[in-house]
Amino acid sequence: MTTVDRDPRAVARFPMPRRNPFEPPPEYREMRRTGPLSYVTAPSGTRMWLVTRHAEARQVLSHPKVSTNTSRPDFPSLRPVGRTPTPEERAELVKARQGWIIDMDPPEHGVYRRMLISEFSVRRINALRPGIQRVVDELVDEILRQGPPVDLVEMFGLPVPSLVICQMLGVPYEEHEYFQTRTAQILKMSHDPNASKAVSSEIRSYLSDLVSRAEREPGDNLIGRLVKEYVHPGALAHDALVGMAQLLLMAGHETTSNQIPLGVLTLLEHPEQLARMRADPALVPGAVEELLRYNSIADWVAFDRMACEDIEIGGELIRAGEGIFVLGASANRDERAFDDPDTFDIHRTARHHVAFGDGVHQCLGQNLARAELEIAYETLFRRIPGLRLVDDVDEIPFKFTSAIFGPYELEVTW
Ligand code: HEM
Repeated sequence: MTTVDRDPRAVARFPMPRRNPFEPPPEYREMRRTGPLSYVTAPSGTRMWLVTRHAEARQVLSHPKVSTNTSRPDFPSLRPVGRTPTPEERAELVKARQGWIIDMDPPEHGVYRRMLISEFSVRRINALRPGIQRVVDELVDEILRQGPPVDLVEMFGLPVPSLVICQMLGVPYEEHEYFQTRTAQILKMSHDPNASKAVSSEIRSYLSDLVSRAEREPGDNLIGRLVKEYVHPGALAHDALVGMAQLLLMAGHETTSNQIPLGVLTLLEHPEQLARMRADPALVPGAVEELLRYNSIADWVAFDRMACEDIEIGGELIRAGEGIFVLGASANRDERAFDDPDTFDIHRTARHHVAFGDGVHQCLGQNLARAELEIAYETLFRRIPGLRLVDDVDEIPFKFTSAIFGPYELEVTW
């Protein structure tokens, strides 16, 4: 086991941005070659481990002694340590994060996740497919009505997940537009924390009102079922259900709204594979898995962790209290797990990718995400066969430094 502080695997700069829309930061390959783990030192002086290989990534994500609770006061942060929050601010933070399973550790995590799990089963999601198809068809109708050129982020990537989650949560049809403009605003403002905080709290009060309406009259939708099964018997608080709904909205929206246009772009850049997929819709699910692996839109930011006890991973001793970042985009290009990993190949078996994570926090919405992506790509390329880019790839604006990667805009014509 190596625990030497002046280890050559320490990296000078983290996070390093992507420079190419189809490649993770090039430093990842070099780190992966040197060993399964590298590290940086946070401004607080704490060591933060970077996990670059697939096997060790899965080991960390499934490790029982690894925490994901970023609101713990001792959770190591990459950012310089700021002012310590007052007890009132901390109480507000804890209230705002109620129901956020992504930040909970077992056993609390399991209690909340079990309440949601049946809503995202393959059976339940298959039942939603006709509704998703309707949403996608109506958006394509609108794109065709408007005529070229259109921005696929604005007219397709953003509204698909928003309208689908509206259906799931039970947002009344006449309120869809209000809801959709607010969620799109949050994503557009992610560079301006104050503005996005204001819209976030507006959405939170909207969701709180939606939950109150369901408490009076529970409908046949996700919120209505949770109200009947857990809120009414006293097993789930109002605020926690609001938090759950908000997490589902955020976790499902930012990811899917980037993956849809980035996937369209990747397919357009591989016309032969696109032609094969179009000719045989049975190839669509495999293409979606490969896009998730190849694009890896959620990289380290989805996977920040802390060791709760001393643990050994990849021959290294990670001490209690040290931070761990799993580099998902690196694990998904690990040559030990995927042959020729930098090649996009819709025929490969890619399903063991970590684009949805692993372990107890593995993406709750993955069946829904797969259904949305399959229907979005299949429908778009079937109904607009001549779809092509307006600009060269190097003229497309990308979110090279954002938490979740994708294009800001994707102008297409046909
Ligand atoms: C392309 C689409 C998506 C990607 C790439 C993605 C990726 C991820 C990843 C990597 C995690 C694990 C985070 C961690 O380990 O800390 C995660 C968790 C989660 N995702 Fe997704 N996601 C997608 C779509 C969705 C959708 C559509 C929903 C629901 C509407 C959703 C809801 C969640 C929730 C609730 C969690 C937390 C699960 C837990 O902590 O137990 N995601 N997602």
